[in-house]
Formats: sequence, structure tokens, C-alpha cells
Amino acid sequence: MNAPTGRPELVERLRSEIGRHGPLTFDRFMDMALYEPGLGYYAARGDSAMGQTDTWLDFQTSPQVHSIFGTLIARQLEILWIALNCPEPFVVVELGAGDGELASQIVRALADLHPDLCLVYHAVDRRPRSTWQAAPDAIPGSIQRWDDLEQISRTNLSAHCVLSNEFFDALPVHRVTWLDGKLWEVYVDWSNHGFVEHLAPPSNEKLIDWLAAAEASLTEGWTGEICLRLPGIIEHIARLINRGVVLTIDYGGEAEELHDLSRNGGTLIAYHRHHWNDDVLTRIGEQDLTSHVDFSALMRLGLCHGLTPAGFTTQRDFLLALDLPSVAQRMLAEELTAAKRWQSHFAINELLRQDGLGRLKVLAQQKGLPTFWLSGARRQ
Ligand SMILES: C[S@@+](CC[C@H](N)C(=O)[O-])C[C@H]1O[C@@H](n2cnc3c(N)ncnc32)[C@H](O)[C@@H]1O
Repeated sequence: MNAPTGRPELVERLRSEIGRHGPLTFDRFMDMALYEPGLGYYAARGDSAMGQTDTWLDFQTSPQVHSIFGTLIARQLEILWIALNCPEPFVVVELGAGDGELASQIVRALADLHPDLCLVYHAVDRRPRSTWQAAPDAIPGSIQRWDDLEQISRTNLSAHCVLSNEFFDALPVHRVTWLDGKLWEVYVDWSNHGFVEHLAPPSNEKLIDWLAAAEASLTEGWTGEICLRLPGIIEHIARLINRGVVLTIDYGGEAEELHDLSRNGGTLIAYHRHHWNDDVLTRIGEQDLTSHVDFSALMRLGLCHGLTPAGFTTQRDFLLALDLPSVAQRMLAEELTAAKRWQSHFAINELLRQDGLGRLKVLAQQKGLPTFWLSGARRQ
């Protein structure tokens, strides 16, 4: 049993939902813990109604570590733009754009590379607009903000690239386990003043279909996560692209790699004050929850909508292939003091570390552009 620490109002809301409807799927629990308006981990950040919270310090994604990240992605976009015969405008959609840091880096770097390039950049994020920080100091009017993917995919917008960094690993997931030759779902229940795990038959047949489609061979005790939101999201993404590329950067791996991790309880994890922990049912609304992305599923679902894999690699190899060393050298030379230079040098190395951000995976999927291949990915 876990003590129900966290935002009291959110704990109470979860408790009363369990009281009304019975144990919650983990998908529902995670959705509320991260995104419940005004209370969830992402939904309360910087919300003036809540007062500035300090949770935003918890995690550091690549664009927050160093702006060279966005500068190098801009180089990949430049390669794509040329492969597409330099369309005007060049339309980019970023999913889960967070506070807009990556958007600002990319817009600035593309403007440096091609001052005449007419870029239209759409940033999509479901967190409150008050958390949007970076856009104001980016090039005015160059970034348009959207609250959800469905909204933008209903327009006639045609994107040349849909990119994301750590978007898919923040999507709510169902938890399942294989016991006594049967599939069980791990629900969240309330007992004796705390949230507890509760096993019961799956809430949705689609969980069983998912494992069948993945051809997963499950062993006793196997526990894993399934994101049933993926099919809808991939469908929306594919609708946005007539000719172009989906570029996904995230923690995760192909099914085989994830299957190994899932032998020991899955990949779901909480992140609080710079430390990973397994207490996913505590500090509700005050800690991040994340699980590894199943890149095999992204590839499989993409193919159903005309998105063909166009390279899969690690962040380290991706950034190195985009000429990180020489871009870094230029950026370091521009730092005004030795301390800043050292700080920058350290941050850039963080992006490449094989036991850190360098191990994130990068996947490209193309539609109507068979000549495109992801920088740093080996051709099969
Ligand atoms: C781990 S953060 C990454 C933020 C940013 N990409 C970065 O690299 O710093 C995940 C982001 O995805 C957003 N998000 C999650 N689900 C979403 C959805 N369905 N539509 C749009 N944004 C979503 C969250 O609000 C959050 O800002």
C-alpha cells in the first residue's frame, strides 16, 4: 500500500472516481495524474491559478540541455526541405512541444541557414498555454500554437514534417501482466488510505488484439505497458502528411528489447526531483510518469497509413551524423567566458552520453519520399 502523497485535490478526485466507477485502468490514472486540468503534473505547471510550481525543474529534455539539439534538427529539416524540392512554405508540426524551447531553437536555426525560407511551424501541446515560454522571443508570428492533434488534423493543413521529442513516452498507458496462462490488467484501486494495484480481466479487448498483432510470446510474470492511444495518434499524423517525414525522438526500443525489460516488471517509471523511482502511485500530480515507447508498434501502425520506415538509430548517432562536432566547435567559440564554454561543452556531451540522452531512439517514417533516409541510420 502506498501513502497517497501528492496534490490533495487530485488524490480526492481520483479516490471519488474509484468510489463511483470502481478501480481505474492505469491509462485513466496516468491521464489524470499528468493532465487533469489545473492539477496534473503537466497541467499545473506555471499555471497562474495554481501559483508557479517547482515541478518544472524535474526533468531535462534534450532541447533544455543545449540549443545545439534544435540547431542540428534544423539541419535534418534542411536536408528534408531540399529532398522535397524546397517547398514554400515549408510546413513543420511539432507534437508535445512543451514550453516551446525546441520550436524556438529550430525556427532560429533554420532562419540562420536559409534567411529566405518561408517556414510555417505548428506547435501542438495539451498543457496550458500559460506554460508556453519560448515563443515570444522566437521570430514573431513564426510559430502557431495548437492544443490538440485532433484539432490540427481536422484542418486541411499539409505538413512536410511531423516531429516530436519525448512526446510518445508521456502518453498514458494500460498495464498488463501474464499470470497463470492468462492476460490480466493492472488497475488502480483505493484501500486503507492509499492507492493499490488490483489485478482483474482486461478492460478492453483491444489489449489482447494488440499483443496478438505484436506476435508477443509472453512468459509467466511478464508485465508490460500498452498505449491504446497510439493507433488514433498515428492516424492523425498520417492524415497531416501527403509527402514528407515523421521524425520521432524518444526513450524506448523495438519490441524485442522492450520484451526483455518487461520480464522485470515493465518500463513504467516515475521521475521526481531528478531521481527515477518505482513508486508510481505516490506524489500524484507532483511527479512525472513515463514508459518506454514501442517503436515496433510505431512502425507497424505507420505502415497501415502509408508511412514507411526511413531509418532508425540512436540520438547519439543521429546528432553525430548531422556534424555535431563542427557545430559544437562554432558554438563553443562564441561563448564569452571560459566557465560558459565549459558548461556548454559539458551539456553538449550530455546529449551524446550512451547511458543518458544519447541512448534515446530516433525513427524516421516517410510518405511519398522514398529517397529520404534518416541521418546516422544504417541502411538495411
Ligand atoms: C516529456 S514532455 C516533452 C516536452 C518537449 N517536447 C521537450 O522535449 O522538452 C511531453 C509533452 O507532451 C505533451 N503531451 C502529452 N500528450 C499530448 C497530446 N495528446 N497532445 C499534445 N501534447 C501532449 C505534454 O503536455 C508535455 O508537454
